[in-house]
Amino acid sequence: MKTTASLLGLALLGCPAGFPAVAQDAAPATTLKDAFKNDFLIGAAVNQSQFEGRDARGVPIIQAQFNSISPENVLKWESVHPRPGEYDFTAADRYVQFGESNHMYIIGHTLVWHNQTPRWVFEDEHGQPVTRDVLLARLHDHIATVVGRYRGRIQGWDVVNEALNEDGTLRDSPWHRIIGDDYLEKAFQFAHEADPQARLHYNDYSLENRPKRDGAIALIKKLQAAGIRVDCVGLQDHVKMDWPTPGELDRTISVFAKLGVKVMITELDVDVVPKTQQNRTADIVQNARATAGEDAFAHGLPEAQQQELARRYAELFQVYVQHRRDISRVTFWGVTDGDSWLNGPGRVNYPLLFDRSGQPKPAFRAVVAQAK
Ligand code: GLA
Repeated sequence: MKTTASLLGLALLGCPAGFPAVAQDAAPATTLKDAFKNDFLIGAAVNQSQFEGRDARGVPIIQAQFNSISPENVLKWESVHPRPGEYDFTAADRYVQFGESNHMYIIGHTLVWHNQTPRWVFEDEHGQPVTRDVLLARLHDHIATVVGRYRGRIQGWDVVNEALNEDGTLRDSPWHRIIGDDYLEKAFQFAHEADPQARLHYNDYSLENRPKRDGAIALIKKLQAAGIRVDCVGLQDHVKMDWPTPGELDRTISVFAKLGVKVMITELDVDVVPKTQQNRTADIVQNARATAGEDAFAHGLPEAQQQELARRYAELFQVYVQHRRDISRVTFWGVTDGDSWLNGPGRVNYPLLFDRSGQPKPAFRAVVAQAK
């Protein structure tokens, strides 16, 4: 069994691969983590019934196929620190134990975000915005407590999630309004102090779009110039069938790699359900609004779309494998199609590599076939 340290070594070395291609129509002869073992870690976001061992379908897939896990929700602020001075690590502890007992590279997601963070964080007892100093003190307490608890056990943290607008400017979040531009510097500093060995990530969606990507490049350069440790940029890659193009993806990975940071694909899924509204964002609030009530594939994904999805996954992994020296991890946001956040009311979706009964889809074989 591989140790976390050896997995980590592989992820950082980005060794050349030596794996035979798997025929498109062959039964899966290998697992995802084996197929890409010389390229990058292969992760999945896991939910509570999975890391608590209750999901009899999902758990064996996770154990067989993946060597890294991300927590879908249990390390977000609202889960772990729901009220002032009150931390609840019951679920998060189980998550970390699951990763450890399966020798996985364990991700912490996420310390600073504008969603799934309780209002009290930003308000005083009268409901008025707190001062910069108060919010910095709360941020410090949160990061020191959460990162400190898992010091040496969680290997990489998404320190800040989604700080940028589509035009590349800093999002007008309460973090930014109250603390100012340097809230990111502070968050990374606090995380580094709490666990000097942990890898620290900036994570966002739509970085393949030029204005937002330019904003992220400027942000990383600014942090680097201030002497702040940033190890990785996470491309969420909640992608569509036609976005981003392989060219945009390739350019994006290249420009971040040139900054001296590793790239991680942190939340991969492919939305196959057509939308009536133009929507090129992974913003969870906007997505819910834009997609309600369109149930094109309620009774299953037709064969033609199944093959399209497989081609789309092949195209994405071709780019990832080309960049195997730049990319240290590719994580899917869920295990089977039934787990995915892209399902909603009136919306049955098919974004992952395993179907609702846990069987590998044509997209699985298409992905594995990209391994060298
Ligand atoms: C964002 C977040 C994730 C998750 C997804 C959708 O991408 O980073 O934690 O909430 O949205 O579920």
